[in-house]
Amino acid sequence: MQSKPVSKVEIALHWVVAAGIIALICLGIYMSETRAFALYDVHKSIGLLLFAVIVVRVVLRLNKGWPDSVSEGPAWEHGVARVVHWVLILGTLIMPLSGMMDAVMSGQGLSIFGLELVPGNPGDTGRPQAINEGLAEIAEEIHHFSGYALIAAIVLHVAGALKHHMIDKDSTLKRMVGRS
Ligand code: HEM
Ligand code: HEM
Repeated sequence: MQSKPVSKVEIALHWVVAAGIIALICLGIYMSETRAFALYDVHKSIGLLLFAVIVVRVVLRLNKGWPDSVSEGPAWEHGVARVVHWVLILGTLIMPLSGMMDAVMSGQGLSIFGLELVPGNPGDTGRPQAINEGLAEIAEEIHHFSGYALIAAIVLHVAGALKHHMIDKDSTLKRMVGRS
């Protein structure tokens, strides 16, 4: 089947965001599980930088619409793929937004590798004082559960991409690496 080309910009944005999200999920789980507080600033800084790229990608996707499918699978398969794409694209927005809300509401502020964007809220002891503890907790829960929902969507998405490539032998994956 002849595939409609996906632009080089779309391909580059897909892989930059994909690699960044997978790296941040691994780093986020590792630092939370091991209480490696020294890594929190690295996680937040990369997350904020990636957020800028994510916004460009989402705006482009909303303006241009989804790429046409190049597979001839059944309608339900296209439906599942479309739902998973929506979960992925919304997940890439919800994760940094909830992370930012958590950081600001818990009084930590926002900075990118030391460059302050939103000042923290130091209490009398000099330790960050929550601006709104309730909102910080809600944001933390959203960040936690959306993270796991995103992992499930990524597993389905990668399995789907591999099925197209190895079983259906169509050009779905080839097009996403600029080879069709
Ligand atoms: C851009 C995509 C991002 C992804 C995919 C991501 C992913 C994750 C994941 C999977 C965790 C572990 C959650 C858990 O086990 O409870 C985590 C923890 C965390 N993330 Fe993110 N994150 C992102 C961006 C951000 C941003 C922009 C910030 C703040 C500016 C942030 C702040 C945090 C904090 C503070 C934690 C630790 C929460 C805790 O230990 O309770 N994240 N992140
Ligand atoms: C190694 C991991 C990945 C592989 C092999 C992969 C592969 C692909 C392929 C082949 C397509 C084209 C689907 C089609 O033509 O219908 C696609 C599209 C897409 N992928 Fe991935 N992907 C990966 C990781 C990710 C991650 C981590 C995300 C986001 C969190 C993501 C989000 C999307 C979205 C939203 C689309 C829809 C088209 C677009 O907006 O560009 N992918 N991916």
